[in-house]
Amino acid sequence: MKKRLLFLGPPGAGKGTQAGLLCKSQDLVHLSTGDLLRAEVCASSALGKQAEIIMNKGELVSDSIVLSIVEKKLIAQSKGWLLDGFPRNLIQANSLESLLEKIGQPIGSVLLIELDDEVLLKRLLSRGRSDDNEKVIRHRLEVYRDKTAPLIEHYSRQGLLKIIQGNATVDVVFERIEAALN
Ligand code: AP5
Repeated sequence: MKKRLLFLGPPGAGKGTQAGLLCKSQDLVHLSTGDLLRAEVCASSALGKQAEIIMNKGELVSDSIVLSIVEKKLIAQSKGWLLDGFPRNLIQANSLESLLEKIGQPIGSVLLIELDDEVLLKRLLSRGRSDDNEKVIRHRLEVYRDKTAPLIEHYSRQGLLKIIQGNATVDVVFERIEAALN
């Protein structure tokens, strides 16, 4: 059975790190909307130029842009996949569900990585991406609480949610994820 997973969690919780490990060990396609948008920024495409300003403020890029990127990737997928950083709000979640129903690829599990604000702030400040300064990180957190956190209840009601405590080494968090999926 092909695995189809979503990762949820605040900025800096370790979604990208754990998604990379899990996709390698389980041969899944890693679809990170943050990475896909940063690739557009790097390529200086029209979309990238538009997205860069929004990302550097810690706001969400428009649903229509992100949805069109994800839709193209999912429709072309024959393997299992892991969505990291998408959906980010209820509009994206509902659009994703309609698309997955249409292409017959239901979500298997949603993994929520939890981490305290002070720990994630420290992690992100030492990473130093262009959106990793204290003011923008705090704003990303507010956006997470306001727009993304309602998805926790949404997926919990569907019986798909698994909660992972993220305050441990990368290896220990990975073991927790593997255990939750077994
Ligand atoms: P995105 O790229 O998704 O960023 P994010 O959600 O803010 O997440 P991060 O990449 O900061 O953290 P992470 O949880 O992946 O942690 P990581 O593994 O990297 O989004 C960026 C922006 O793009 C958004 O603000 C928005 O503008 C836009 N965007 C993206 N998706 C969108 C969407 N669907 N709709 C609209 N807009 C969208 O780890 C963080 C650091 O901690 C790293 O340095 C890592 O090495 C370290 N670390 C990881 N695990 C551990 C550990 N266990 N112990 C110690 N250090 C650790």
